[in-house]
Amino acid sequence: MTAPVDDALILSVESSCDETGIAVTRGGRSILSNVVASQTALHAVSGGIVPEVAARAHLRWIVPVLDQALGDAAVTVDDVDAVAVTYGPGLAGSLLVGLNFAKTLAWVHDKPLVGVNHLEGHLYAAWLHDGANGGDTGEPVFPLVALIVSGGHTFLVEMPDHLTYRLLGQTVDDAAGEAFDKVGRLLGLAYPGGPAISRAAEAATRHDAAFPRAWLGDTYNFSFSGLKTAARRTIDVARADEGLPTGKAAEAEPAARLSAAATAELSWGFQDSIVDVLVTKTIRAAESSRARSIVLGGGVAANSALRTRLAGEAEALGLPLIVPRPALCTDNGAMIGAAGARRFAAGERADLSLDARPSLPLARR
Ligand code: KG4
Ligand code: ZN
Repeated sequence: MTAPVDDALILSVESSCDETGIAVTRGGRSILSNVVASQTALHAVSGGIVPEVAARAHLRWIVPVLDQALGDAAVTVDDVDAVAVTYGPGLAGSLLVGLNFAKTLAWVHDKPLVGVNHLEGHLYAAWLHDGANGGDTGEPVFPLVALIVSGGHTFLVEMPDHLTYRLLGQTVDDAAGEAFDKVGRLLGLAYPGGPAISRAAEAATRHDAAFPRAWLGDTYNFSFSGLKTAARRTIDVARADEGLPTGKAAEAEPAARLSAAATAELSWGFQDSIVDVLVTKTIRAAESSRARSIVLGGGVAANSALRTRLAGEAEALGLPLIVPRPALCTDNGAMIGAAGARRFAAGERADLSLDARPSLPLARR
């Protein structure tokens, strides 16, 4: 028997970047299982994602991840109402693995297929709850303003209702997560740079390292490439002070790292610049669009300085802030199930001609 769509049991597949994620969710809210095979250790060797390596790792892990997701949820593919899958944006080779896998499951088990935009998944992670998510802030209330910050994307969007988006602004160059990863590399920290910089910054005892902020007037756009250049220069100056090789010579000697104190201070200053711009623009957007709640999502939303500062400023405005717990901010299958359930309930069905879209936008102005 098929469940009513609002209560639909969704099997969802995410493979757009370097996490193989499969989940079983109900009604876009409850998580029955959410299994993620992370390739972080694999890519740490090269200090970044090698697309060919990522695609092969998805192939290696996707069947065991499915088995565990079904086992954890105690269901079979025949029990689910639909199969949802990320079809973009992301790395073409990575997307194709999950997409072909999901198509095959849908075809063999005669289930409807629903295509999901990865960015919409990051947004809809805010609707998930499994006891540990969301705390007592409840569900997002419309109209809302959402800030999505990940390794590949940084944008602010207004949502008057479900599945309806008005793009307010986005990065004109690097994504926030990309900047974290690049500066993490310059500091000789472990890959990925975001969590490593966050940890290093927590140890800072001095909080006076000043990094530039690109405000870009009163737009809601972001730019982090100038910050990256400034960070490179400041790190070089600090290295010279400690008698370490600088510039290209530093890259040849990755073991010659800055002292822990300088690393902590510079990490704090760099992170503070990113958090300041992200929070200031999000709060201004929420105020001017008369939002009734704020949503924060994407891998960088796992950053505790960002979460804490945005929570404080949202509270001062009397606005609820909904931020998924960190494991639901970074790529996972449940977020695709959350968005997929909405699309499924809205009557959307994809067929086997659904193609991977490496640069699929969420919304146009
Ligand atoms: O959403 P995500 O898992 O993948 C993409 O869709 O890109 O985001 C990954 C990004 C990486 O750049 C990583 O460094 C960053 O999220 N990230 C963080 C933290 N945890 C992950 N950045 C800052 N602080 C963190 N705690
Ligand atoms: Zn993502």
